[in-house]
Amino acid sequence: MSVKAEQFPFPFTEDRYAYSNNSSLQKPARSVTMTDRYLEEIQLKRELLQANHQRCFRSLPLSLESQWEAMRRIFNELAENEPEHFSFEKRGNEYRFQNLLLGEEERFKYRDLSSIERQPLDIAGRHVQEDLIIMGDRHDGLFLEAGQLCFPSNWSLTFVLGMDFKSIHTPVPGITHKDFIGKVERFISRIRQNEAWERKNWSMTISNKLDTPLETYANWGKLRLQVTDENVGELVHLRVEVQRLLRLPLTNDILFTIHTYLLSLNDLIRNDLWLKRLYTTIQFLSDDIAEYKGIALYKNELMQFLEKTLSEKGISL
Ligand code: HEM
Repeated sequence: MSVKAEQFPFPFTEDRYAYSNNSSLQKPARSVTMTDRYLEEIQLKRELLQANHQRCFRSLPLSLESQWEAMRRIFNELAENEPEHFSFEKRGNEYRFQNLLLGEEERFKYRDLSSIERQPLDIAGRHVQEDLIIMGDRHDGLFLEAGQLCFPSNWSLTFVLGMDFKSIHTPVPGITHKDFIGKVERFISRIRQNEAWERKNWSMTISNKLDTPLETYANWGKLRLQVTDENVGELVHLRVEVQRLLRLPLTNDILFTIHTYLLSLNDLIRNDLWLKRLYTTIQFLSDDIAEYKGIALYKNELMQFLEKTLSEKGISL
């Protein structure tokens, strides 16, 4: 599902790419946002949750307090920022959230599990385009304690449930170099209550498929072998995740949200600056990162396509 180019959060601010803590403080603090893909993506999420609930939702019992806090926070944000689509009312301990776009409502008594049929994060995630993760902030680090994850980029919630922040990042090449990931973890541990930070992560994917979990790699991974000089512009998509980190004030845990955007190369190259930046980024990408992001298999076709387009447009580097 591609988004319109105007809504696409193009990630490259320089011509070369290196892992960096490219986080910026958000004012006002937001953990969720909407695009014009809302209805399609919510429908897809619901289908995935229906068919593969165990894969898409996981939690540890100690995450429940943070889940309640996250749900209330998300419903508050939606009602405040999109009042024409959502409302959220409180009477004593009883809450009513209305989603006018879907014609649905959620009623619950705060922190009363008997008043809800699903866990709070599993309810909240069904109303937003973002994947939602709770990172428990414990005395010895950050741990992944709950998640509703429908659109992962080749990772598995089941595999990382309960894992600490550094271990989660072990598959990423070079991420421990100069203690990069240790510094990121210390940065997160210093985020203050109600503060939200945002960063962009990027990768490439084949087709406009948002759900690429590790568990179904056998189905979608092989699409990378189908890229040819003729179809590269249509098949290959830049995949950008806008990730937000918000400190929940009561539990002191972190709500980590991931909003995934896709844009086909054919749409991307309409913007000359984007075309140039993508070309130089891929050109200087190290082999291990190209391999990790799955680009190595079609890098030749990709580079030839970008070079041809640059020359047709008369753009010099
Ligand atoms: C606190 C919430 C976070 C969670 C739950 C999380 C989780 C993950 C996961 C599951 C992966 C994929 C690992 C794999 O291939 O198996 C990943 C990749 C990565 N993460 Fe995080 N992450 C978080 C925050 C951050 C932050 C704040 C940064 C940097 C400032 C960061 C940097 C990266 C990088 C650079 C990659 C490699 C992505 C790529 O090249 O495609 N992560 N993360």
